[in-house]
Amino acid sequence: MEVSNRAEGLKETYDVAGRDFSSAGAASSRIKRILQQIGVDQGIIRRIAVSSYEAEMNLVIHASNGGRITLDISPDAVTILVEDDGPGITDIKKAMQPGYSTASDEIREMGFGAGMGLPNMQSCADELEISSEPGVGTTLKMVFMNR
Ligand SMILES: Nc1ncnc2c1ncn2[C@@H]1O[C@H](COP(=O)(O)OP(=O)(O)OP(=O)(O)O)[C@@H](O)[C@H]1O
Ligand SMILES: [Mg+2]
Repeated sequence: MEVSNRAEGLKETYDVAGRDFSSAGAASSRIKRILQQIGVDQGIIRRIAVSSYEAEMNLVIHASNGGRITLDISPDAVTILVEDDGPGITDIKKAMQPGYSTASDEIREMGFGAGMGLPNMQSCADELEISSEPGVGTTLKMVFMNR
């Protein structure tokens, strides 16, 4: 990752609307574009792009009240913070299991609901932390180290 020309770092927050499939993916597209512009390593960009897209789609699909995604670039790492005001996750361990999904038939018809988003984020990110309060929302933090 070459952010030496940006030693001060970069931080941006994007609002993401719940259930709005017309603009879904916009935040992760912007994140990918910024990382390309500042010359981050292709392999790291790929892992961040996959993870931020999966997290953004989870926000859109599972948290109808919406939320926000914050991109934080420092010389050492890229951190993606995804916060929503949705229903929360009661059993995080279960949600992390490959194949576990509560997606409706309607959502499955759109091509989502394989239950692979969280497992993919887990394998792409160097660090992943989820905290959730049922009825309040979910916070997901992913860290990608600069090699
Ligand atoms: N932000 C969230 N708010 C509430 N529940 C969530 C959130 N993110 C994930 N979940 C719950 O965790 C489950 C697993 O999420 P995961 O992303 O792995 O699969 P999915 O979204 O159902 O399907 P896929 O990501 O493969 O399209 C979801 O079905 C949902 O029940
Ligand atoms: Mg998902």
